[in-house]
Amino acid sequence: MWLYLVCLLFHILSAMIWVGGMIFYVIVIMPVIRNPKLKDQKLTLLQLTALQFRSISYFLFLIFITSGFGMLYAKGYLAYGEMISFFTSKIGYMFTLKIGLFLILFLSSVYHDFVSGPKTFVYLEKDSIQYERYRKLSGFFGRFNLLLSLGITILGILVSRGVSVF
Ligand code: HEM
Repeated sequence: MWLYLVCLLFHILSAMIWVGGMIFYVIVIMPVIRNPKLKDQKLTLLQLTALQFRSISYFLFLIFITSGFGMLYAKGYLAYGEMISFFTSKIGYMFTLKIGLFLILFLSSVYHDFVSGPKTFVYLEKDSIQYERYRKLSGFFGRFNLLLSLGITILGILVSRGVSVF
């Protein structure tokens, strides 16, 4: 029971920081950065805040995986014989969907954080066409990651209450 509760605490706190952090970025940080008073510092602020958020993201991903599997272990779903019946149950399908979305989120975050985002700043002064291309791509993947994270959160809440859409 203690293992489950400790993992749940870490899992929920990480979800609060991850999803809350992304929403805070969109509704507070971005509008402030776009303020005309910060025109000269706009790109530096954008780059520094993005790098700061990136530095905690992968640490949070690790906590999600560890605490998530910790909860499954604590509930006995990873025990030999239990695993197959769990993953072929209606709740198991919900869980598999959640893990699938998490994998897509991970890949999409890696692309956004290490490819499209940095390239946007590299092309800033070199090539305006490439800059615009990567700026749009980064915006798209940023929004996509937020939507995926909300979907994963909803699935997590449903799974832990035994609700399945299958
Ligand atoms: C972006 C990543 C993730 C987010 C935002 C997230 C969020 C959540 C939330 C909000 C809950 C509901 C907690 C509750 O209301 O009791 C939950 C439950 C759960 N999550 Fe995640 N999660 C993520 C990734 C993962 C991963 C990668 C795993 C497994 C490897 C996982 C395994 C679980 C399990 C097993 C539960 C159910 C706990 C129970 O049965 O009470 N999650 N998650």
